[in-house]
Amino acid sequence: METYEAIMTRRSVPLVTDVPVEKWKVERLLDAAVRAPNHHLTQPWRFIVLTGRALEEFADAWATGAQREGKDPEAARSKALRAPVIICVVERPKGHLPKVSDIEEHHATGAALQNILLAAHDMGLGAMMRTGPAAHIPEVRRHLGLEDGELIAGLIYLGHPRAEDGARPLSRRTDAASLTEWRGW
Ligand SMILES: Cc1cc2nc3c(=O)[nH]c(=O)nc-3n(C[C@H](O)[C@H](O)[C@H](O)COP(=O)(O)O)c2cc1C
Repeated sequence: METYEAIMTRRSVPLVTDVPVEKWKVERLLDAAVRAPNHHLTQPWRFIVLTGRALEEFADAWATGAQREGKDPEAARSKALRAPVIICVVERPKGHLPKVSDIEEHHATGAALQNILLAAHDMGLGAMMRTGPAAHIPEVRRHLGLEDGELIAGLIYLGHPRAEDGARPLSRRTDAASLTEWRGW
């Protein structure tokens, strides 16, 4: 698939099958992630890839946090188990480099996330970026072993698309033309 075609046809795939995703495919996605642009080559990211028993333990941590917050633990648990794989993209800002600002680290990590989504689309996988409450729940952070200053930039839910979803339309966007001023053209 051409790059432009991948960009223009990618869509989030909220529902995927429970068919496992091969590890080499996830490795390919992560190789794409680390090609993202980043200022001063800080590479402000790391990845935790969950499947099988590890995904269930993640779901348990989310459910425990939800229960402590007075929410339905089973709902949280089932959200965590919506796809056979979650790629947790962790942002680790390099605050000690004065020339690199936090926003630059966010941009770099966002680009890494998008690389994963585009590469997944190119490989025929279904992916959706979510943050939601899991990104902030202390029980989840503890379970994942996040250090102070590290952020869950995104949870990419990954699997194989369902056959019946093939024809779903893209989500709407405002035309770039109506958001753009052309000056000096
Ligand atoms: C940083 C970020 C966090 C997001 N978190 C969620 C989320 O928690 N739940 C959700 O339903 N969509 C979330 N989204 C939106 C979806 O990933 C998706 O981009 C949106 O529904 C538009 O659909 P599309 O990707 O098919 O164009 C998030 C998007 C971004 C960029």
